Amino acid sequence: GGFPPFRNEPMADFTRADHRAAFPKALAQVRGQLGKTYPLFINGRDIMTGNLLPTVNPNRLSEVLGQICQAGTKEVDDAITAAVAAFPAWRDTDTRKRAGYLLKAAEAARGRIFELSAWQILEIGKQWDQAYADVTEAIDFLEYYAREMVRLGEPRRLGHAPGELNHYLYEPKGVAAVIAPWNFPLAISTGMAAAAIVTGNCVVYKPSGLTPLMGRCLAELFREAGLPPGVFNYTPGPSATMGDYLVDHPAVSLIAFTGSMETGLRIIERAATVHPGQQNVKKVICEMGGKNAIIIDDDADLDEAVPQVLLSAFGFQGQKCSACSRVIVLDAIHDRFAERLVAMARATTAGPPEDPAHFMGAVADEKAAARIRGYIELGKTEGQLLYEGPVPEGEGYYVPMAIIDGILPEHRIAREEIFGPVLAVMRARDFDEAIRWANAPRFALTGGVFSRSPAHLEQARREFRVGNLYLNRGITGALVERQPFGGSRMSGVGTKAGGADYLLHFMDPRVVTENT
Ligand code: SER
Repeated sequence: GGFPPFRNEPMADFTRADHRAAFPKALAQVRGQLGKTYPLFINGRDIMTGNLLPTVNPNRLSEVLGQICQAGTKEVDDAITAAVAAFPAWRDTDTRKRAGYLLKAAEAARGRIFELSAWQILEIGKQWDQAYADVTEAIDFLEYYAREMVRLGEPRRLGHAPGELNHYLYEPKGVAAVIAPWNFPLAISTGMAAAAIVTGNCVVYKPSGLTPLMGRCLAELFREAGLPPGVFNYTPGPSATMGDYLVDHPAVSLIAFTGSMETGLRIIERAATVHPGQQNVKKVICEMGGKNAIIIDDDADLDEAVPQVLLSAFGFQGQKCSACSRVIVLDAIHDRFAERLVAMARATTAGPPEDPAHFMGAVADEKAAARIRGYIELGKTEGQLLYEGPVPEGEGYYVPMAIIDGILPEHRIAREEIFGPVLAVMRARDFDEAIRWANAPRFALTGGVFSRSPAHLEQARREFRVGNLYLNRGITGALVERQPFGGSRMSGVGTKAGGADYLLHFMDPRVVTENT
């Protein structure tokens, strides 16, 4: 007890004049702070390094948001040393007290919610509502895991045998490496780090090289919360060298990663190698990609299905592991659905997301843009282009929205994660075939069905085997506690962020038996 019950932080509400006014104001305010140099945060102190890299606005490449000090292996060693030193006292800190730090960080984030949204709009190109939702999700993780740790923190009594007292309790693993993606730069970073911290581990956090400034914001939230030195360390640096270095380090016992399948599998493989001096089997908590489908049944309500598919496929330029990248439409409704989807796509506009009129903006970087363009060209040969959106003028990493029809399960754009605004349309003979096709890729993250048939919805519950299945709604935007998020098969190792099992992955259980 003690903490009020968990509630999701409310979304941005654009019926409110104060919310509408707050975004331009916050954007102007953060633009007044451009070009600063951001240090590392190690052992409770800001550390400058000589190696700086700019972080830029993907919609305006000449806009440098800040210069980010890069960690090298020496700084990573320093951070790990600090984490190792802080660990025993942090492990032994009362769980309720540890939880209290998370609530303080949540309070700090609430106080800066528009500013944190504005940085995100500029650093990675999120639309207003999506940027705000990333911050509310970060707050939710802090609030939810704080309560979860209080629940798990009490040793549980087991058994009834007379003369015997059994206690089941959890202990942290030690030093956790948190390796975060750029697409939910505050939420996913905060979720992984908060889970590691509240369970009693000490964290070395590597943000994505595309969103180090958001990572620095997280360091500031934890600093404001007053976390003891060494419990959370922020070490941005190049993935190519630093990722492996962190994963391989003998003092790291736990790796929490969210990102691509390729990187996730590489981490799992490397973490299996025991290095000299290593004391623990490394645990990898790993959330990877998706190739998510929405099935449109022949009786689907298209007034719902069309906008929800559009948003699930193209919101934040399709750069979500949860995004819809395949829409499997039953033959009888295919033409009507496709026509309406294209009409609605045609009505959207593209450009920098600081202007809320723009539905879609630039993608993350040039590499992403080139990959996505490659898939669009491939899609045109595998299927037939239904719609290709205009590319805005300007210097951003723009790619068109693309909808490609006539795709079959064996086509590459039906199997490979694109992570961009490309939607494959597949025409299925019947509902059984639709379910079969939906399950065909090796990913199993999210999925959706629009249907009015109770029998088909029931069949989907049983047979559409994804981590998060959504019936008659969009398939992105999972909420902490209500939709614990994560997949299985090649989408991840079955940990559910924002759910009741999540913290268990960050700890080792122990049993103490006393003969009384
Ligand atoms: N949790 C996000 C969503 O559901 C994806 O990471 O969209």
